[in-house]
Amino acid sequence: RTIYLSEYRVPAFLVDHVDLRFELFENGARVHSTLTVRRNPEYPGVAEHLELDGDSLKLESVSLDGIELGADRYQDQGDKLVVQAVPDKFGLNVVTWIEPQNNTRLEGLYKSSGMFCTQCEAEGFRCITFFPDRPDVMARFRTRVEADREKYPVLLSNGNDVDRGELADGRHFVTWEDPFPKPCYLFALVAGDLVLKQDTFTTCSGRDIDLRIYVEARNAAKCDHAMDSLKRSMRWDEEVYGREYDLDIFMIVAVDDFNMGAMENKGLNIFNSSCVLASPETAADTAFQRIEAIVAHEYFHNWSGNRVTCRDWFQLSLKEGFTVFRDAGFSADMGSPTVKRIEDATLMRTAQFAEDAGPMSHPVRPSSYMEISNFYTLTIYEKGAEVVRMIHTLLGPELFRKGSDLYFERHDGQAVTTDDFVKAMEDASGRDLGQFRLWYEQAGTPLLTVRDDFDSEAGIYRLTIEQAIPDSPGQTSKNPQHIPFALGLLGADGTDLPLRLFADENDAPSERVLELTAARHEFEFHGLSERPVPSLVRGFSAPVRVDYPWTREQLIFLMNHDGDGFNRWDAGQRLAVDVIQALIRGDEEGVDERLVEAYRSLLSDPSLDQALVAKMLQLPSEAYLVELADSADAQAIHGARTRVLDCLAQALRGELLECYRRNGDDGSYQLTPEAIAARSLRNTALSWLLHIGDREACGLAQTQFQDAGNMTDRMGALRALVNSCFVTEREAALNDFYQCWQDDPQVVEQWFSVQAASLQAGTLNHIRELLAHPAFDWKNPNKVRSVIGVFAGQNLAQFHQADGSGYIFLAEQVCRLDDSNPQIAARLVSPLTRWRKFAEPYGGKMKQALASVRDKEGLSKDVFEIVHKSLKE
Ligand code: ARG
Ligand code: ZN
Repeated sequence: RTIYLSEYRVPAFLVDHVDLRFELFENGARVHSTLTVRRNPEYPGVAEHLELDGDSLKLESVSLDGIELGADRYQDQGDKLVVQAVPDKFGLNVVTWIEPQNNTRLEGLYKSSGMFCTQCEAEGFRCITFFPDRPDVMARFRTRVEADREKYPVLLSNGNDVDRGELADGRHFVTWEDPFPKPCYLFALVAGDLVLKQDTFTTCSGRDIDLRIYVEARNAAKCDHAMDSLKRSMRWDEEVYGREYDLDIFMIVAVDDFNMGAMENKGLNIFNSSCVLASPETAADTAFQRIEAIVAHEYFHNWSGNRVTCRDWFQLSLKEGFTVFRDAGFSADMGSPTVKRIEDATLMRTAQFAEDAGPMSHPVRPSSYMEISNFYTLTIYEKGAEVVRMIHTLLGPELFRKGSDLYFERHDGQAVTTDDFVKAMEDASGRDLGQFRLWYEQAGTPLLTVRDDFDSEAGIYRLTIEQAIPDSPGQTSKNPQHIPFALGLLGADGTDLPLRLFADENDAPSERVLELTAARHEFEFHGLSERPVPSLVRGFSAPVRVDYPWTREQLIFLMNHDGDGFNRWDAGQRLAVDVIQALIRGDEEGVDERLVEAYRSLLSDPSLDQALVAKMLQLPSEAYLVELADSADAQAIHGARTRVLDCLAQALRGELLECYRRNGDDGSYQLTPEAIAARSLRNTALSWLLHIGDREACGLAQTQFQDAGNMTDRMGALRALVNSCFVTEREAALNDFYQCWQDDPQVVEQWFSVQAASLQAGTLNHIRELLAHPAFDWKNPNKVRSVIGVFAGQNLAQFHQADGSGYIFLAEQVCRLDDSNPQIAARLVSPLTRWRKFAEPYGGKMKQALASVRDKEGLSKDVFEIVHKSLKE
């Protein structure tokens, strides 16, 4: 069944208060729920019956105003409880029995390594008790948790703990009260044997907040980074958005089995262990950065998501897009803004553009869905954040802040729409964002075709920009969108020229944000003595593709001179793409010398910003090259990219060894952009050298592997060895690593991943062995992702075998997981949905594998939606 935005109706009944009592046992849990219900005065018409959502619940009793109802007064329809002929105001008590210990879907209440925990977003609360499970029903929750004292000394829920005590049979209870009304998707409960890491934060108004991170005892030493990140996030949100924390306690709990990254439950954030636990010995730089960003993201949700929430799930990007934009601003301020922008743009261009052009393409505010879990997508999150970023660009920082203040003030305590967000921005700034709203309504990535010419007589440079938005499922003939187009023009000396829009414009700026609103625009820039080199869409000012006939000379010029760091990187990427594509097409025999020389200067000029250099040295990924292709030949792409890498490594061997030495480990572990760049540079140099089988580098890698004081360097050496031709050395390193870290699940996941991403022929057989490894666990999503997810999503050459064996393998695993955890199965199947993008024999065989998933008996609606949409027509 498809749900449509156009069918939205306000709820017939409101719930003011929820009183919950959980009796937790080893063989199940009894949930007593008492709701204070009243009719919604805004509901058109009269609803006679109260309808509550439910999923996999065993109903024990229903009472209305204290009187138990006979079976004739209600119907238990499984996914709904209908209570007939209810009064205008009443108390409803429902008792249900659930089995958290058998809950492998990890939605609702479940057990993970011996502890009870919850995940309710989007529709998990209905797996706990019957309730109007929709975000526009907001209630105050009071929760009493009862469990065995010895097994579960820590009992947590949202808000403040208001009561605790002993019970018979060695049991105890704690009662929690959350003063803020919230939708049930923000409910959380945790019960377990956990240790506590504590700190305090003093807010801008002088309130002391008790900060608590709860983890299993073995992880006690891995909380510092998350705690520091939390305090930085709290300060940043006060300074940049004027948002102060509102409860007396803020808690984070780490759980091993978790479908997603983390969850912003009010006052009690629950995290996937891998997104919160870190120490320099066990986590790499990328993990540290991800943790900082996710801790911030979940914390920022307290305002953008919890205090102001979504009216319905079509508005998901209201909280996710805005919160990703907020966490991106935070990460930029904590590290290198240019590097952060490069990472975000890369994710957009590689994965979101692919999603936008594929069978699951949907607008930032979708108008229909079958399973909402499938819509926690790059489009909702990342494109949604880009859309907010464009509003920020169009309004400027001051008016944007005025707009966000107005939004929070106007809608505090409400469940609202993306349109309300845009309206607040309009009202605060006085700008008309009418056409801009199309970004929320139209799917697909706009293509900007840019052409130019120079009139040397008149000194006028003319830029023509056409925009087109491709058709997507259910949407054709789209209207032009409002696009902020940041532009610079470089003169022959490499500096930015003034952009004069009319001949006698004085003090013209050297960078402008042009606003595109029509299908075609022509801009003229005056007073130029020479033809400039254009720097287009600086800083990725809009999530668009740009078609402009750059010459390689122009790209090299931009790489060296562009005043915008992002566009220097971008020029390097475009140059490398151009060279690789020419090899794929067979247009060129060898690798263009100019690329080699460009990389040589990057490597050998220590005066350049090393954080930017570290990014510029990364060749465009295979996934990005697939995205850019019309009909991708996976093996040809892999082969051409490998040839370029070989050629660069051979030609630059001396520079790479020198770069490796220059960026040696000084023994300290710091997370500054400079230190991160140094580690990245030395590990890139190492991997390139091992790629060409360099003996000396193999020795360096072995030494680094043994002596590394941190996981970034240890993993850098291991990865380089795993992808090298040195068989004995790589096997030894892999064994050694496992022996050393087998007791740490987060490290074992990295050990699985490096093997699943291995370039060695025969990886698929090895993947099957990993699935049989004692450390592999089908019930743990992180393990599944680190082996199957990495193989199918990141290992292009090994996954795309011409005989289709990689696809058949993936289809088998998806079917297997579909029974136990449909959300994970639906995520895992996605590489196959791109079948239209691939040339034969790949495309056809991917489609066949997808069809075999479709034909599985009892397919979940999660996987059904994705597979059916992908096979349509
Ligand atoms: N709201 C969470 C976050 O982004 C993600 C929850 C995802 N839940 C799901 N069922 N897909 O911070
Ligand atoms: Zn979020």
